[in-house]
Amino acid sequence: MLTGKKIVLAVTGSIAAYKSLLLVRLLIKEGCEVRVIMTSSATNFVSQLSFATLSNHTVYVDFFKDNTWANHVELGLWADLMIIAPASANTIAKAANGVCDNMVLATYLSSKCPVIFAPAMDLDMYLHPSTKHNLINLKSYGNHIIEATYGELASRLVGQGRMEEPENIVDYVKSFFVNSSKLYGKNLLITAGPTYEALDPVRFIGNHSSGKMGWAITKEALNRGALVNLVLGPTSLMINPHANLSIHHVSSAQQMYEASKKLHDHADISIFSAAVADYRPKDVAEQKIKKNDSNFALELIKNVDIAYELGKIKKANQVHVGFALETENEEINAKGKLAKKNFDLIVLNSANEKGAGFKHDTNKIKLISNKAITTYELKSKDEVAKDILDQIEELL
Ligand code: PMT
Repeated sequence: MLTGKKIVLAVTGSIAAYKSLLLVRLLIKEGCEVRVIMTSSATNFVSQLSFATLSNHTVYVDFFKDNTWANHVELGLWADLMIIAPASANTIAKAANGVCDNMVLATYLSSKCPVIFAPAMDLDMYLHPSTKHNLINLKSYGNHIIEATYGELASRLVGQGRMEEPENIVDYVKSFFVNSSKLYGKNLLITAGPTYEALDPVRFIGNHSSGKMGWAITKEALNRGALVNLVLGPTSLMINPHANLSIHHVSSAQQMYEASKKLHDHADISIFSAAVADYRPKDVAEQKIKKNDSNFALELIKNVDIAYELGKIKKANQVHVGFALETENEEINAKGKLAKKNFDLIVLNSANEKGAGFKHDTNKIKLISNKAITTYELKSKDEVAKDILDQIEELL
């Protein structure tokens, strides 16, 4: 869920700084990229080297070192999220008042991303009206506060002031990203995989789609809090169950159409990633077709075009995203499908490109709308799914 998220962790002067070592490990385990900055007071509790080792990056404490300037602006712009944990009373007071006398405060003031404060201090400091006032001010600026918890403190006193446990901070971060997605609570209809068009009880016409692309989009949409109806052709995918996921197994194009049509009315967003057979055998033999001495001619008839039919009844508040798998005149063909099938966005992948299209764990796509074409590098299908959903979020 947090894969690829860029986190700046700011550690300030409190004995709870030792817990932030675990926080770094947990965030990295979740797939985050973590950069640590510290106040000089924090370095009295835990060494810079420990954080540098765990995060595998330089830890900044000073603005200047060895004639180089630590660029707090760049760090603030790089991050998807800044976490100040532990946030001491001193840092909270300074941040609430725009004071900028260290690397942590300069990064906080220049960051464009959301900021979470996880306070840690002695109980009387936490209860002091000025601390309460500062936390209210920080909240009013749009910051998030993970309240300190109750328990035994470093002073041996018992009260509220303990920094929240790292595991719970990670849970907070996860739900923060889910809730902040525009896909949160949206209904998605996703078609995926191949269709099988029966010839007789044992044979079919199919294609090489593994369903991996559609499944990658499904997983990412679930991560972002969407409710997904996945209409899935025959695949050998390992599907993990999820509370917000309903799977509708189908075999033929006609079955995929019927299942999709039922679900389409309630779908805010429909994504047609399936490789649907355009034709099916006119007659399906009831018994296995026997071999004889002559050639065998197969008459094919047209299948329903699911995306085209649903495109005709698309409502103004619905978004349709199609795929185009091309072998020639790729952009022209994809743009033709964008218009004909009433898509808002089409994902072009090429059957000629190495590592792209059917079966691979990677794909290389262009996203084409009426306004722009964006070209992406070869990436894992999980990463491609993120690019697609990011663009869909922009459309919303
Ligand atoms: O499943 P993988 O192995 O991971 O491979 C992924 C993929 C290559 C199947 C996927 O990335 C992809 O390109 N899917 C669409 C393949 C395709 O059938 O493209 P098309 O250009 O023929 O169809 C255009 C669009 O119309 C597609 O959105 C398709 O789902 C839809 N369509 C097509 C025919 C039809 N009868 N009904 C449809 O809904």
